[in-house]
Amino acid sequence: MSVRIAPSILSADLSRLADEIAMLEEGGADWIHVDVMDGRFVPNLTFGAKVIESVRKLTKLPIDVHLMVVQPENYFESFAEAGANGMSIHTEVSPHLQRQLNRIRELGCRAGAVVNPATPLSAVSEVIADLDLLLVMTVNPGFGGQSFIKGSVDKVRRAREMLAENGSKAFLEVDGGIDRKTIKSVWEAGANTFVAGNAIFSAKNPKAEIAELRSRCTVQT
Ligand code: DX5
Ligand code: ZN
Repeated sequence: MSVRIAPSILSADLSRLADEIAMLEEGGADWIHVDVMDGRFVPNLTFGAKVIESVRKLTKLPIDVHLMVVQPENYFESFAEAGANGMSIHTEVSPHLQRQLNRIRELGCRAGAVVNPATPLSAVSEVIADLDLLLVMTVNPGFGGQSFIKGSVDKVRRAREMLAENGSKAFLEVDGGIDRKTIKSVWEAGANTFVAGNAIFSAKNPKAEIAELRSRCTVQT
């Protein structure tokens, strides 16, 4: 199973965004993860369409947008237009999840649903056919640099089983506290797409850290 490393630019030095994106590309990043926060669903405020547009100009890598916002549908058109390749929306603020996911697909983007640590996987069980990606949060969203919640490993295992039982080929992504120590446990549990912010950007050699994270996802014989 191929492994995707998706560095989150939340932890990047935004005054050097072009250099940071070039570094991630050279390091072999697969996707660029953009954390959009609205100060309502989560306390922080971060990026909008302008930043996605800037990232788009700097790279051809897929842009994986994580919408930590209420009423995410307000942003679908402008983010797709700005160059997003995938948009993931939180089940906790998406009462019309099936329609919202399909709208994301209509705009030509990969449609993702996100579950917070306290949200059961049953929140997505009726929309598996509408999912291109399932994101299991391994911290409570809102900030970079938090500690991985260990109980997430079993949830990822159950998410993998649920996708397999339904014949889904959706990406299974994890986000929050992913580093050299934690990545293997969620990879073994069935995740194949790994967001990492702090682990990459605070590393002595961020480029090498991407390879290091990837290397932890290999079968030991
Ligand atoms: C958390 C964000 C994450 C965050 C990950 O709210 O969704 O994408 O940037 O950062 P680390 O890897 O530092 O936990
Ligand atoms: Zn994220």
